[in-house]
Amino acid sequence: MTDGKSTVKITETVLRDGHQSLAATRTRTGDMIPVLEQLDEVGYNALEAWGGATFDSCLRFLNEDPWERLRTIKKYCKKTPIQMLLRGQNILGYNHYADDVVEAFVERSVANGVDIIRIFDALNDVRNLECAMRAAKKSGAHVQGALVYTISPYHRPENFLKIAKDLVQLGADSICIKDMSGLLAPYDAYDLVKTLKTHISAPINLHTHYTSGMGSMTYLKAVEAGADIIDCALSPFALGTSQPCTESMIYAFQGTVYDTGIDPEKLAPLALHFRKVKQSLEADFKIKTNIPIDPEVLKFQIPGGMLSNLLNQMKEQETADKYDLMLAEMPRVRADLGYPPLVTPTSQMVGTMAVMNVTLGERYKLVPREVKDMVRGKYGRLPGPIAPELKEKLVSGEPFISHRPADDIPPQLEKLKAQLSEKGYADASMEDLLSYASFPEVALAFFQKNR
Ligand code: CO
Repeated sequence: MTDGKSTVKITETVLRDGHQSLAATRTRTGDMIPVLEQLDEVGYNALEAWGGATFDSCLRFLNEDPWERLRTIKKYCKKTPIQMLLRGQNILGYNHYADDVVEAFVERSVANGVDIIRIFDALNDVRNLECAMRAAKKSGAHVQGALVYTISPYHRPENFLKIAKDLVQLGADSICIKDMSGLLAPYDAYDLVKTLKTHISAPINLHTHYTSGMGSMTYLKAVEAGADIIDCALSPFALGTSQPCTESMIYAFQGTVYDTGIDPEKLAPLALHFRKVKQSLEADFKIKTNIPIDPEVLKFQIPGGMLSNLLNQMKEQETADKYDLMLAEMPRVRADLGYPPLVTPTSQMVGTMAVMNVTLGERYKLVPREVKDMVRGKYGRLPGPIAPELKEKLVSGEPFISHRPADDIPPQLEKLKAQLSEKGYADASMEDLLSYASFPEVALAFFQKNR
């Protein structure tokens, strides 16, 4: 290490986002165990290993208890903090839960081994993070508040700074810029990180994806602007739609003031192991892990996968001839709806609305329930205003919500417990109850298989 002050830290994502992005989240706990102790010795800032889609995938596809995976990882990794990704009030799903479920989920996550919780909200409405952040603080975890990165007139560096300040106010120990689709260009990253670093003392962690092909350039400029932590994946699970490559970033900074202090020699055997894991996943699950970059994402801010889904949808309805119209319609819809960041579930809403507008030949002739709810504020505050002439048409007389959406949700834990009891699981642990709360049918099927 050359200069302790500017050294950049690396969070390794091979156990979570790496295989979620490239291998349909299919890495099994058994694939991880042989190298967990070695991963623990590398000197990473953290190992991102839980949350996101891993929880669902364990139960649904791998016949694994996600809580057991967490405890196993923790057993082997005693030095390096274990990090998870949480969707705020949505926990790991797509709808808001009552506060009692969020609190219990956070408390159990920490009790089972999570040290750092990265919490985000699709709309960057900090009210949707309050409950989870408070619970994480109470449990003694490091709380990382995340800003979902997107591009719009309402997402200037000063807008992100405002959100970051609110997160610090709520107790965030560090701030993450979460760039899900690799939209953050190198010089924009420089400006954004510089703005945050100028006004905030909490460490800044940048999370990007290689989707557009700019990822490592973005990290380079962000680190020059003072970013403290970058998320990287070991080479077999890097690039494509995943993170920039751990080894390459370490070599890029070696011998500079940003030197990570990590010995790249330690990574070669780990990379070898994960290369074999990737091959076994391809064979066992019949998946393709070679996902190329797609700079087109920069035009529409929608990942290629989503665009091909929409095209398929239109082919089924025999309206594929309107695909180009739909592409032009999407940014208009996004502007009309107040510029939501395009991440699940808002990306689907904007996409579906654009398809309906062009296929029905009249804009907003029909409005899906989810879009109505988003406009009403049921998912939280939208970044920009709704086009005034559309406001009433979009919600068709239903009330607008200006308070924190979860305030309308009464406690759920007791009800869920009663439901599980009815189904013959009266002695279910809190962990099982939370699995059931998150993915009811999938969890029940898992319980049945493993009685
Ligand atoms: Co990610």
